Amino acid sequence: MPGFEVIGKEEEKEILDVLKNKTLFRYEFDEQRHGIYKVEEFEREFAQYCGVNHALAVSSGTAALKVALAALGVGPGDEVITQGFTFVATWEAIFDAGAIPVFAEIDDTLCMDTDDIAKKVSPRTRAIIPVHMCGSQARIVEIMEEADRLNIPVIEDTAQACGGKLKGKSLGSFGKMGTFSFDSVKTMTTGEGGMVITDDRNLFVRASEYHDHGHDHDPDVGRGLEKRSFIGFNCRMMELQGALGLAQLKKLDNVILARQRENKARIKEALTKIDQISFRNILDPQGDIASFLMFFLPTQEKAMAFNGVLSGEGCPTVYWYDNTWHYYERWEHLLGEKSLIRTGYPFKTESGEPRCGYDAGSLPKTEKLLSTCLTIPININMEEQIPKIFNAIEKAARVL
Ligand SMILES: Cc1ncc(COP(=O)(O)O)c(C=O)c1O
Repeated sequence: MPGFEVIGKEEEKEILDVLKNKTLFRYEFDEQRHGIYKVEEFEREFAQYCGVNHALAVSSGTAALKVALAALGVGPGDEVITQGFTFVATWEAIFDAGAIPVFAEIDDTLCMDTDDIAKKVSPRTRAIIPVHMCGSQARIVEIMEEADRLNIPVIEDTAQACGGKLKGKSLGSFGKMGTFSFDSVKTMTTGEGGMVITDDRNLFVRASEYHDHGHDHDPDVGRGLEKRSFIGFNCRMMELQGALGLAQLKKLDNVILARQRENKARIKEALTKIDQISFRNILDPQGDIASFLMFFLPTQEKAMAFNGVLSGEGCPTVYWYDNTWHYYERWEHLLGEKSLIRTGYPFKTESGEPRCGYDAGSLPKTEKLLSTCLTIPININMEEQIPKIFNAIEKAARVL
């Protein structure tokens, strides 16, 4: 999964370009930088890689979501539909925008259940954020059809699926906007960092200005004299991150994804021999980034027993059902309405009235799927690990 595994001379070279000129900031210092603009170059190359018109580098994947929501004008009084299996950042960003997250079920893709959108939509719904979870495609074509029918914009949270495609088209490029994360455990990493992509020039300009305190980036005046059309924030990426991104992007297809796909295929083959196991529905295996291998056992009891043996034998597995960061029912701070804000916002209004609330048990389909699902994370370098995993799988098969 993580791009940090292949950090090497290429990243060092890019970083040194920045340090030699002592230009850490993406804007200004034009004479001192000798033509080196790493963040800008990273944006250009990333946009080209994804086949879109515009890319805006930002400080994190969470910031990318916040910037995309701001560009779309989402705020208080609005609702945003996302899914109950995602990292907490997806709905944190919705709350941060002032809007209310509404959670949809997932289906056998382990991403948003298209059929649930119509049940969760309301006159207040202003955006839909499907998440391409764990490296594979959401039913983004169907989700787009449904969103277009409802006339609601889609932001694709592609934090976990950078490099993924569906029938040759990059994940993140189907919706109005797509967001990415390059944090420390992502497929390609800049330590912390993110990206927003879009084909829409107007949304790009709004995002770019918002992410930089509203600066209008007028090339004819100095930064201090630039104007503002609206209030913004600081979500800027710095040059060292841009430098890392350039080096990692060059390795994405041929090194990172190629090796992950090879490793995943080998482990999947071993699991395929066990007839009680079925696999996650991957809509386009060629466009799967292969960062996770997800499979189902017939019952929760069997999943737990299988997981127990795998873990005991040193095979790294994730049982998302128990995971407190990615699954709705384990978000005790959300369900328990915990907030630092004196008034209890975002769960309560200024006058203490209930504003939104979340019940455990409201996503039964998601619960059923995750309770029987096990995951083996796939790394780039697994040569030593794979024989141990084969051995663990063989032993685990005996408890079924
Ligand atoms: C689905 C999803 N969305 C958003 C994020 C947030 O990214 P970051 O950690 O760069 O803020 C993550 C990070 O794990 C994620 O998995």
